[in-house]
Amino acid sequence: MITVKNLSFTYKNGNTPALSDINLEISDGDFIGIIGESGAGKSTLTYTLNGIIPHHYDGDFYGAVTVNGMDTFENKPESLALHVGSVFQDIDSRMVASVVEDEILFGLENFSVPHNEIEKRISETLEAVGIADLRRRNISSLSGGQKQKVAIAAIIALKPDILVLDEPTGELDPQSSVQIFRLLKKLNEENGMTVIIVEQKIMLLCEYAKKLIVISNGSILYNGNVREVLRNIRELEKLGVNVPRTVTLCKRLEELKACGNEICISIDEAENLVRRITNG
Ligand SMILES: Nc1ncnc2c1ncn2[C@@H]1O[C@H](COP(=O)(O)OP(=O)(O)OP(=O)(O)O)[C@@H](O)[C@H]1O
Ligand SMILES: [Mg+2]
Repeated sequence: MITVKNLSFTYKNGNTPALSDINLEISDGDFIGIIGESGAGKSTLTYTLNGIIPHHYDGDFYGAVTVNGMDTFENKPESLALHVGSVFQDIDSRMVASVVEDEILFGLENFSVPHNEIEKRISETLEAVGIADLRRRNISSLSGGQKQKVAIAAIIALKPDILVLDEPTGELDPQSSVQIFRLLKKLNEENGMTVIIVEQKIMLLCEYAKKLIVISNGSILYNGNVREVLRNIRELEKLGVNVPRTVTLCKRLEELKACGNEICISIDEAENLVRRITNG
């Protein structure tokens, strides 16, 4: 569980706060998507959840963030990492090993996981992420999607309760992006892992996330179930935040009084709605 209370943060070189008076509760087992315009503060918010802020970035920090009861101000990112695992956008520069299994091993050794447990953790994790066949491959020979899975595997091998990902599909093609979301859904549903993800691919995000947080100019504008948040489509459009095209469609149909105020998130839902309307 994560609690954020009256959090504000201004980077040392920043003129204005990157985050202003953020209040947030993230429950165990949540699957949360974070969206907002470029420069809204999405990455900054993720840094406050794993202790990178205030420990690695200088600035003015007000308020409090607790992760599983641990105050991030008093606990270093290294201690928090066993509770909240982070997958950053620039995975290439963060990979330390040349072979897949070594990348996972490195993290386990770094966090002093007992030696007799290591082999089991590596094979279990590779299996869970669906990359057992890549175990002895050279990381440099992998595709973007495969590398992203290795990065996620290296983090979840540490068994964090919470996984924070900042645009993990940024460099990936649509098919690999779907695979990453399927993996996150599996970790969320089968392992009860809390997933917090900043993501630009809005259709995909809305299909998999249970809740959405919209950040604008350092403040939380909306926070709620995906459908409830998407009802504010006109406000979101004004901010330049993308919404799924299916939502644009049903909003337009509602304005034309062709249907009620329903929100279609998937193509299937939109298709059903259009069929219902056109069949009378
Ligand atoms: N290291 C830094 N020093 C000073 N200001 C920063 C730093 N990093 C980010 N900022 C500023 O903080 C604000 C929030 O940035 P942040 O990177 O969190 O936005 P974002 O929502 O992740 O944007 P994007 O969609 O482009 O990734 C921006 O105004 C940005 O210029
Ligand atoms: Mg960012």
